Amino acid sequence: MDWSKLTFSYTKTNTLLCRYFRNGEWTPVESHTEDDIKMSAFAGALHYSIECFEGLKAFRGKDGSIRLFRPEENAKRMQRSAEYLGIEAPSIEMFVDMCIQSVRENIEFLPPFEATGASLYLRPTLIGFNPQLGVQSSKDCMFMVLCSPVGAYVGGALDAVDAVIARNYDRAAPNGSGSYKVGGNYACSLKSLNVAHEQGYKAVLYLDPSTKTKIDEFNSSNFFAIKGNKYITPKSDSILPSITNMSLETVAAHLGMEVERRPVPVEELSTFDEVGECGTAVVITPVHKLVDKPFLESDEETVYIYGDGTCGPKSLKLYQYITGIQKGEIEDQFGWVKVIG
Ligand SMILES: Cc1ncc(COP(=O)(O)O)c(C=O)c1O
Repeated sequence: MDWSKLTFSYTKTNTLLCRYFRNGEWTPVESHTEDDIKMSAFAGALHYSIECFEGLKAFRGKDGSIRLFRPEENAKRMQRSAEYLGIEAPSIEMFVDMCIQSVRENIEFLPPFEATGASLYLRPTLIGFNPQLGVQSSKDCMFMVLCSPVGAYVGGALDAVDAVIARNYDRAAPNGSGSYKVGGNYACSLKSLNVAHEQGYKAVLYLDPSTKTKIDEFNSSNFFAIKGNKYITPKSDSILPSITNMSLETVAAHLGMEVERRPVPVEELSTFDEVGECGTAVVITPVHKLVDKPFLESDEETVYIYGDGTCGPKSLKLYQYITGIQKGEIEDQFGWVKVIG
């Protein structure tokens, strides 16, 4: 494999693991070499989006060992999502064990330490499985762990991107599903994302859906900003609780920065030194140009520029710390990594 050519896209691997929740209990783990699955066309996942998923990564360390980054946090977040959908969730132990088995069965797809920005991405997925017509939580589920080797999400790691605020679109409703990792949230973001892509923007930034005065998050990542020595990130009920963001807050505090998680008014955008996206896919993506418009299709623009198109110094330091822990180059003093081989 040419690890340097990997992007954030699908590559067929050796196996897909699955277990079914049926008649009130989980079946034993099955390992399938094909990644097509057989299910009823009436399954709740297909009609009512009774589906939630997770994303985490396995890394090959400098010392040759394999590390998962905070898998228990992903397991807990899936349990929250499943509870929201009213379906059975895997236990933390079952979730983590299947992630470990998936890495072991697909070990030749785990990029070597030298492949900068590359990793084996794991996609645990839980779907409502039984045939149904009525709108209700599915009683049977299928839990799968899929994997694919990946490189940087967009362009290269730390390439700065341009993003746009979508004032006339929301990805989440007030008191809605925004803080859960359910597939429906992503379907809801596609229209605005497609319009933004056509205009050359890589990412869409959403505002709080009730007042449209505060920053929420990007389509597939949290928002953070650096102001002086402060790490600032939005506090909102309609954003996904990002495990990367949580980790960045801890690292920022550890490195002597002040950390503020609070409502972030849009007017504050002009005061930031650095702005970025954060998430599992690339840890940090710096934002160079952020455009605000009265509505997405409008030509009227307020433009905010951050840095010179490269990653700002504080964001870079945070990025290096997290990726250093993930690849075993920096001591894991927070107990975040699970060494699995
Ligand atoms: C909407 C959204 N927000 C934030 C994140 C970042 O979360 P995490 O850091 O747990 O990957 C993701 C996923 O990566 C996401 O899809």
